[in-house]
Amino acid sequence: MDLLKIKLDQACLLERELIGGQPLAEALAQLDSEQSDLFSELLDHQDEWPLGWLHLPEHDAYAAQCQELADRLAAQCEELIVCGIGGSALGTQAVYHALDWPVTPLKPLWVQDNIDPSQLAWLRESADFSRAALNVISKSGGTLETMAGFFHLLEILESEDLDDAEIAARVVATTDPSGGLLRQLARDRGWATLPVPADVGGRFSVLAPVGLFPLAFAGVDIGELLRGAAEMQALAYNLPQRENPAWQLAAVHYLLNTRGGISETLHYIYGDPLAQLGDWFRQLWAESLAKATRLDGGPGGQCATPLVARGTTDQHSQNQLYMEGPDNRLYGFITADSWEADTGVILPEDEALKPLAYLDGRRFGELLSACCRGTRDALVAAGRPVYEITLPSLNPASVGAYLQLWMLATAYAGLMYGVNAFNQPGVEHSKQITRQYLEQD
Ligand code: PA5
Repeated sequence: MDLLKIKLDQACLLERELIGGQPLAEALAQLDSEQSDLFSELLDHQDEWPLGWLHLPEHDAYAAQCQELADRLAAQCEELIVCGIGGSALGTQAVYHALDWPVTPLKPLWVQDNIDPSQLAWLRESADFSRAALNVISKSGGTLETMAGFFHLLEILESEDLDDAEIAARVVATTDPSGGLLRQLARDRGWATLPVPADVGGRFSVLAPVGLFPLAFAGVDIGELLRGAAEMQALAYNLPQRENPAWQLAAVHYLLNTRGGISETLHYIYGDPLAQLGDWFRQLWAESLAKATRLDGGPGGQCATPLVARGTTDQHSQNQLYMEGPDNRLYGFITADSWEADTGVILPEDEALKPLAYLDGRRFGELLSACCRGTRDALVAAGRPVYEITLPSLNPASVGAYLQLWMLATAYAGLMYGVNAFNQPGVEHSKQITRQYLEQD
């Protein structure tokens, strides 16, 4: 597809031998023939699993509702503070940072996604509350971090020289469409509301109002974001699954993890704007696939641990491990072909600088790309499994395609592992214990 270039390395990935000697390419063909229409199988689960995210790229009504509210709010406010955590924040942050460029910046968007006192102090100092709006996002409507942070920030907003109606007009609550504490509060206090659709889970919600509203406010073309996602989604409907990159990525991960000695999957991200897409992916993959029990009742617990590294910086801290440490990691090189305001290196004329002459006149984007290729080739030469995803240009449509690619790949991988990829039973226990501590003390 034009919006993304995806390449699976031949020698080190497709020809890599799984336990028992079967090359990965052969195992992929076998998996394809054994489970020949996994997408239909996914659709069969629509009544049982929250699969509404599959339809979001085509859901114009949410986009229109979010854009209208964003435009209305933007007439009074220049900044937006989002209170949310996990699936209610990571996607928004990832897209915002991918598209907030130095020469054509988006409107300021702050995200309170922690209860770290220093993050809150920094937010209090940095955001301009006199011209800010608040968007509190919580599907459950009662998450500790989100609600604590939101009421703290609301109090600061209330200390501005605004009457009650003006304050209420600056708050948007994005939450469950019908129930929960936050929905009730919004009703009582006259805040605008947006839905987190009941059939869309947190980590799959970036293209729901959870992400669409703050991104529209910031100035992202959400229509293009959805268009890119829809193009990726169309591949699942129109291509044989073995040609669909989302299926391919899922199958590569599944086979290498279950039969190829791979226990970690690393996104090696070249280009800082893309870095937070790595954090978004980490949650998506980890919370969706690591399940103690399979759907058939058998033991699960298998899924490659998602990791993120930042090129070129981490070349200088992690590459030794990647090259000569355990061969238990799959490497995905994630980058873009061009960068805004790319400029060049100009060396002063000086005989002493001759050893650096190869840098002279090179654009920084060229240097980044050369480092990315150099690191990839070295890993390939060391026999490490590698694939690449390149955004030909960093725009909302390509980012939308990238998001949908990984959401689909995660859903396919869930079916391959035989687990429910749409719940997260393992995160509840720590929340209960935390609450007990706070109620007792
Ligand atoms: O993916 C998930 O379900 C989680 O990361 C949630 O999004 C996160 O815990 C926040 O939950 P809520 O939106 O209910 O506040």
